[in-house]
Amino acid sequence: MAFTFKNLPVERDDLRVDVLTGLATSPKSIPPKYFYDEAGCRLFEAICAQPEYALCLTEQALMATCLSDIAAAMGPVECIVEPGAGDCIKVRRLLDALRPSHLVVMDIAGAPLAAAAEPLSRDYPDLAVTALGMDFIHNLEAAAPYLPTGQRLIYYPGSSIGNFPPDAATALLARFRQLAGTEGQLLIGFDLKKDPQLLHAAYNDAAGVTAAFNLNLLERLNRELGADFDPARFRHYAFYNPVVGRIEMHLVSLAEQDVKVAGQRFHFTVGETLHTEHSYKFRCDEFSTIANTAGWSLKASWEHNGFAVQLYG
Ligand code: AVJ
Repeated sequence: MAFTFKNLPVERDDLRVDVLTGLATSPKSIPPKYFYDEAGCRLFEAICAQPEYALCLTEQALMATCLSDIAAAMGPVECIVEPGAGDCIKVRRLLDALRPSHLVVMDIAGAPLAAAAEPLSRDYPDLAVTALGMDFIHNLEAAAPYLPTGQRLIYYPGSSIGNFPPDAATALLARFRQLAGTEGQLLIGFDLKKDPQLLHAAYNDAAGVTAAFNLNLLERLNRELGADFDPARFRHYAFYNPVVGRIEMHLVSLAEQDVKVAGQRFHFTVGETLHTEHSYKFRCDEFSTIANTAGWSLKASWEHNGFAVQLYG
């Protein structure tokens, strides 16, 4: 049925400002949302198919097995809202089970999102699909005018919430609460704390896809900000820190070097890190504490092979 695409203006300026700010800070860092240009989206999809990165496949297996329980626990839903929907594949299962009248997907990568969302309106003739190219971390509230009234479900799968340190995760979940309304619900998937060897392997896959994903960030800055990074002079370095319960992903400089970005020069010493991502892992009770603080109450919880899906209302 109806398909609407809106590219809400944000991205390019934010990329420049955020990257220049992050490179001027010590330690240097760039927010992980900037991984996802077109090449980055493709590389992330390839990560999800790596055997060591069981996260996406485990979540999908869990969703397949528990779908009728999940739907029963949820009751009727008129609108599914998915921030960071990417290739829009995961939500199909929920569309089949819940048959909502509206779907609103958002992603910072606007063009790939539009291409992925459009076919949904053909495959689900009674569904109104709205795709919003937008940075929902920056401005989730801009999506509000596009949501119809009626029962809303925020769907936030894939452990995307793991990118945020606990305080920021709480703040984002509180904004989800605002957007969903007091009658709204949240279905969220997150990766559990587990054997650190397994976590380490997931971010150091043998085929090198995660390394390519991390290094693509430098290539993106070369393409979009006229930077002159030499990716061969940076090392993908990811490890699990059990003290804080997170994977840390870095690009470590292999040489003393100067890099030019958007007309400014930045110096890297040998071994200096550019931090690119945190990926927090949780215990179910830790996660519920975060969600409770954000105004959500646990309704049901499912778990499989070190991954959890929880429903909040
Ligand atoms: C999309 C944020 C869930 O942290 O596991 C995958 C991104 N980074 N491999 C994650 C990612 C490296 C992923 N999230």
